[in-house]
This record gives sequence, C-alpha cells and structure tokens, in this order.
Amino acid sequence: MKELQQQEALRLTSPYPYALLVTLDARDRPNIMGLSWWTFTSWDPLMIGVSVSTERYTHECLQHAKEFTLCFPSEQQAKDAWMCGTKSGRDVDKFKVSEFMPVHSTRVRPPMLEGATIAYECRVINEVQTGDHILYIAEVEAIHGNPDKHSHLYTIHYTKLISLGSDGSINMNPGR
Ligand SMILES: Cc1cc2nc3c(=O)[nH]c(=O)nc-3n(C[C@H](O)[C@H](O)[C@H](O)COP(=O)(O)O)c2cc1C
Repeated sequence: MKELQQQEALRLTSPYPYALLVTLDARDRPNIMGLSWWTFTSWDPLMIGVSVSTERYTHECLQHAKEFTLCFPSEQQAKDAWMCGTKSGRDVDKFKVSEFMPVHSTRVRPPMLEGATIAYECRVINEVQTGDHILYIAEVEAIHGNPDKHSHLYTIHYTKLISLGSDGSINMNPGR
C-alpha cells in the first residue's frame, strides 16, 4: 500500500453513480444539478441523503423549497446531464439550454425529468452541516421510472460519464 493524495484516491474509487437533483428556486423556477454524493440512509421509511456544497445555487434552492427530485438520467441524456454538473442555475436556465423536459411530480413541487431511468420524489426532513457541504436528509414520498431505460450514468472522478446497465451492460461513450 502507498500513501495517496485525495485527488488520486477519488479517481481510483470511481465510478460513482451520477444523478440529477431537481429543485425550485425562490421564484419557483426549477433548476437541475449534477450530483454524485448521494446515498440511501434508511430502508423503512426509505430515506436518501444528498451532499450539496454551500456554494451551489441548488443549496439556495433547497433552503427555500425543502423538496427535490433525484433523477437518474438514462444514457441517451448524457450530454445534457453533464451540462447540469458544469453550469450553474445562477447563470443559465438549464431547462432552456437542454432537451430536458419537466414532468409533474405527484407528492412534491419540483418536477421529475422525462426519460430518466428512475426519479425519487423527496421531502427534506433534516440538514447536517458537514465541512463545506450540507447533507440534506429526505424521506422518499414516491418513486417513478421507465423500466425500458435500464442504463444510466456513472462518473469517472470529475472527468467523464460512462453508462452501466442494470443488466450489466457497459457503454464507455454514452449519448454519442
Ligand atoms: C460528476 C459530477 C459530480 C458532482 N457531484 C456533486 C455533489 O455531489 N455535490 C455538489 O454539491 N456538487 C456536485 N457537483 C458539482 C455541481 O453539479 C456543479 O457545481 C453545478 O454547476 C452546480 O449547479 P447549481 O449552481 O445550479 O446548483 C458535481 C459535478 C460533477 C460534474
């Protein structure tokens, strides 16, 4: 074993599942953010934790909305999904500059994304400050999905997305 720098360790522990967090800003406009730091935190009730930097527009949105959807983009959505992890909703309306289409959620106000593999509708019940991020812990209120879209996206550190299918298939260049 050799001692490693943080960057190299994060690269070596790739791939990480890549999801899109959709929330609403103070004017109730939806915003989409790329996120790999998520986890289930409870089975019953089903709960999800998402770690969001205090610098993100999404953090401001969550402080206001306290609700989000966590959508797993399918491999066809890779290009737009990457844009959501590299541009801020402070500067662009990510729905306007992408092909993402909002779909009404059933239990929370932020929309789901049409064509995603899975979308969890989540209501924030707790927040934990953890260094430079806030861990938002949420109860899952409803789950929707497209069972025909079994392939979704994983990030190799912060450099690129690949697609893995729930059937074990791999696509190194999704969305092309
Ligand atoms: C692969 C990847 C994973 C990311 N994961 C996270 C994450 O888990 N938490 C976070 O706060 N930001 C994460 N980001 C950064 C945000 O997606 C990025 O800063 C985005 O532009 C913020 O958008 P917003 O300002 O509209 O909220 C990630 C970015 C990429 C490319």
